[in-house]
Amino acid sequence: MRVLITGSGGMLGSAVYPAFVRAGHEVVATDLVPRPEPGMPMGLLDVREHGAVRDCARETKPGIILHLAAETDLERCETDRDHAYLTNAIGTQNVALVASELGVPLVYISTAGVFDGTKGDEPYTEFDRPNPINAYGGSKYEGELIVRHTVPRHFIVRAGWMVGGRERDHKFVAKVINQLRDGARVIHAVTDKLGTPTYTEDFAQNLLALIDTPFYGLYHMTCEGAGSRLDVARAIVEFYGRSDVEVIPVSSDFFAETYFAPRPRSEMMRNFALQLRGLNLMRPWPEALRAYLDQAGFELERSSARGA
Ligand SMILES: NC(=O)c1ccc[n+]([C@@H]2O[C@H](COP(=O)([O-])OP(=O)(O)OC[C@H]3O[C@@H](n4cnc5c(N)ncnc54)[C@H](OP(=O)(O)O)[C@@H]3O)[C@@H](O)[C@H]2O)c1
Repeated sequence: MRVLITGSGGMLGSAVYPAFVRAGHEVVATDLVPRPEPGMPMGLLDVREHGAVRDCARETKPGIILHLAAETDLERCETDRDHAYLTNAIGTQNVALVASELGVPLVYISTAGVFDGTKGDEPYTEFDRPNPINAYGGSKYEGELIVRHTVPRHFIVRAGWMVGGRERDHKFVAKVINQLRDGARVIHAVTDKLGTPTYTEDFAQNLLALIDTPFYGLYHMTCEGAGSRLDVARAIVEFYGRSDVEVIPVSSDFFAETYFAPRPRSEMMRNFALQLRGLNLMRPWPEALRAYLDQAGFELERSSARGA
């Protein structure tokens, strides 16, 4: 099948593109700016431009569209809400209108950030009601509603804390790795934010299995289990055997200046719909995180780093 991907140059795209190629699909990768990557020829496509999305889709004639493009920087979304809604809601509407015009299924990647985080200790399922508390979550949720109303055959797939991307990684794991690389002996990580890491490689495999079914609809797709940012930071430090590095628990107030966008206390999700359909392939997050660190080849040798 010919697959058109938006936002292919991001963390998720860097796993989805090769997984779909390996599975035998003919993949047309696009992104906002060219990101030269061996083996991934990438066309330019700004999803904010309806005409450009329409022309690209009419030209490539995909059998399915994977819409990954988004503004994922929560602080940027918070300070420039017009940009957030233009990219994440209107951009999604452009892609959805084109999918509808062509009569092809659309996969829209959404986020645990659509929830307000007040559920308590139970993870969110697909049957819980979203109530976003920041511009990123709000704009992504509007994208969900638009997809639901515009494209009859859609998969809306919510991911948790993204883990993956190697050199494209700009989220929590990369931030911890960068501190280790810079020689930090103390790493602060918060205990009052809970979530479910989501390994991009596992996500790509599970997505392949899901789109092979006729079960269109809404899905949570995260690794199994849950934890705090502190748990994830500790797992990374442990992986590299860095007993010389202290991971200090702090509250979110510690980072209030840098990460000023409000964040839900809990973004824990359960893959309830995938489980009910027998389609859940996601591994426990500690195992998936180790697989990522093993494969990513960050310039942090486990043996030389140990006890350094
Ligand atoms: N990252 C997470 O923690 C996370 C968690 C849950 C769900 N998600 C969702 O998963 C999907 C993939 O995100 P990701 O993790 O791969 O994030 P990412 O690394 O930020 O990738 C998003 C890609 O979309 C591109 N993009 C931004 N604006 C665009 C536009 N107007 N037109 C075309 N492309 C545009 C970005 O380019 P620039 O880098 O140049 O802006 C980037 O290459 C998104 O829908 C996101 O909302 C992400």
